[in-house]
Amino acid sequence: MKNIAKGLNLDFLENLPKVKCIQCQKIYRGYENNFICFSCKERNKIMIDIATKKEKRIKYLLDNSNIPKRYKLANFEPKNQIQKIVSEYLINNFYENKTSSDTLFFGAIGTGKTYISCAFAKDLIKRIEKNVKYITEYRLLNLYFQKDYRLFKNFRDAEILILDEIGKRELIDWQMIQLEELLSYRFDEMLPTIYITNLTDSNFKTFLGDRLTDRLRESNIQRFAFNGDSLRGK
Ligand SMILES: Nc1ncnc2c1ncn2[C@@H]1O[C@H](COP(=O)(O)OP(=O)(O)OP(=O)(O)O)[C@@H](O)[C@H]1O
Ligand SMILES: [Mg+2]
Ligand SMILES: [Zn+2]
Repeated sequence: MKNIAKGLNLDFLENLPKVKCIQCQKIYRGYENNFICFSCKERNKIMIDIATKKEKRIKYLLDNSNIPKRYKLANFEPKNQIQKIVSEYLINNFYENKTSSDTLFFGAIGTGKTYISCAFAKDLIKRIEKNVKYITEYRLLNLYFQKDYRLFKNFRDAEILILDEIGKRELIDWQMIQLEELLSYRFDEMLPTIYITNLTDSNFKTFLGDRLTDRLRESNIQRFAFNGDSLRGK
């Protein structure tokens, strides 16, 4: 059989006009308009693959964040002074890959605690692809009650967990035990939690009990009071 590579005469290339790769500007021979060389084409393909993967992961994280429909379109733009302070803190505390401390948002109804947290979660997912999840205390405990342990664990293991409506109702024994175990686990694994409640700071401590309060103190929890008028219907 004839050796194709050996027998190839490439002299004809010399007679082709020069053409510049529109991406890397290297000179090749050929006729093509808007020529892109083989190396650049390869590189483009890899970049597209990376972008597609990133897009897929962001979609996956958003779909699994459990952000309620009402807050799906929330913009990470503060509406009042406390949201402004909180947004700045969240950006400083979570966007760089340092160990983030736990955070507590407490205060009056309708002051934008859930809104700003969900807006932040979306932003964090889109920017740095963090596995952030949102859930209310009641729904979290309900997962356990329904024996959906797989999903319960997904929330327990989230890189950042936003736990809303804490202490809305008195908890019975098994509920308090599961909540405490989940929060202790997150403390031990150094997974930051954002706690949201309508309770006052001191009632929140009473609700959690001495053991958890002590852990939160150790993890240097940052507290933010949301006061003032409700933003609802404004
Ligand atoms: N930054 C914002 N930009 C636009 N709208 C906002 C913003 N913050 C809050 N809101 C609006 O205010 C309403 C109340 O906010 P949110 O539900 O977050 O209050 P909350 O503090 O969680 O209240 P509750 O304690 O009753 O759960 C939201 O429905 C939302 O429409
Ligand atoms: Mg709320
Ligand atoms: Zn090129």
